[in-house]
Amino acid sequence: AEVEGYNEPSVNSSHVNGEYAKINWDVLGFGLIPTDYMYIMNCSKDQHFSQGTLTPFGKIEVNPSSGILNYGQGLFEGLKAHRTANGRILLFRPEENAMRMKVGAKRMCMQAPTVEQFVNAVKQTVHSNKRWVPPPGKGAMYIRPLLMGSGPVLGVAPASEYTFITYASPVGNYHKGVLNLIVEEKFRRAIPGGTGGVKAVTNYAIIYKPIAEAKAKGFTDVLFLNAEKYIEEVSTTNIFLVKGNEILTPPTSGTILPGITRKSIIEITHVLGYQVKERAIPVGELFDAEEVFCTGTAVGVNSVNSITYQDTRIAYKRGAGTVGQKLYEMLTGIQTGRIEDKMGWTVEL
Ligand code: COI
Repeated sequence: AEVEGYNEPSVNSSHVNGEYAKINWDVLGFGLIPTDYMYIMNCSKDQHFSQGTLTPFGKIEVNPSSGILNYGQGLFEGLKAHRTANGRILLFRPEENAMRMKVGAKRMCMQAPTVEQFVNAVKQTVHSNKRWVPPPGKGAMYIRPLLMGSGPVLGVAPASEYTFITYASPVGNYHKGVLNLIVEEKFRRAIPGGTGGVKAVTNYAIIYKPIAEAKAKGFTDVLFLNAEKYIEEVSTTNIFLVKGNEILTPPTSGTILPGITRKSIIEITHVLGYQVKERAIPVGELFDAEEVFCTGTAVGVNSVNSITYQDTRIAYKRGAGTVGQKLYEMLTGIQTGRIEDKMGWTVEL
């Protein structure tokens, strides 16, 4: 397979009848399972996106001179759809992704779809691939909207055309099992004034090397710091520390991705009697925390087992009764319809 984690569907989709695609829903990981359709729309520079279309999922033609291939002019989003116990399909806060893409598009000098266009694209993608939304409790459909400079450029400048594509794949857990992090002291994910605060495609390939080095030492992932040794984020997730009845997370002041799960956690922790404080956290405070957890669309809420900093391993509480576990239950409960959505976060398909 060309794609890591790619699972070939066991049956060609066009031969399947019935409510669900015929795959083994019990072994979903976080890898691409191609689904039936993708949604695509185009626009010229300084114009608005016009009506898009659903088309069979597959390869697209890309100009070798496109802005995305040459200069990395691109953004992506990630959001999930869950099937509830009574068969409804719920999207989680899709307008938030749409708005984040608009902010990112400004930074990357791109045209962006409107919130309505974005949400419509997501809904159409999920609807047309409905049979790939996992049964309740078996995972979620991960929806991946992409925005790219598709028009040709040679000089360094914004592309003349933009393409927006949304595709989807059923997924299971992103991190499986233990989560042992190492504090990254050599590589940086983002710099002040850079693009760390938007979901630029170029923020991701640059973390492969630090992750590979951490994995070679037996760790699951890395925790990035800024130049002043304050904690920033784990490579694809935001981070929270639990100290007494306070929960701390660094503020999203440009070098940290403003996660939608992060925002949601900040908005609901008061239900558990906790206050989230957004403030700069020196790396030394990792030693005083009882619990650490990560948040992200792909991971949900995931408690950290340990963080290693300069050869010292700090272990954290994890599992039953922890704040991380309770927040995980609350978040997934709302996302899957088990808990009443008083926040108005879910959007029914
Ligand atoms: C997400 O949580 O949606 C992410 O962006 C993480 C990753 C799969 C890139």
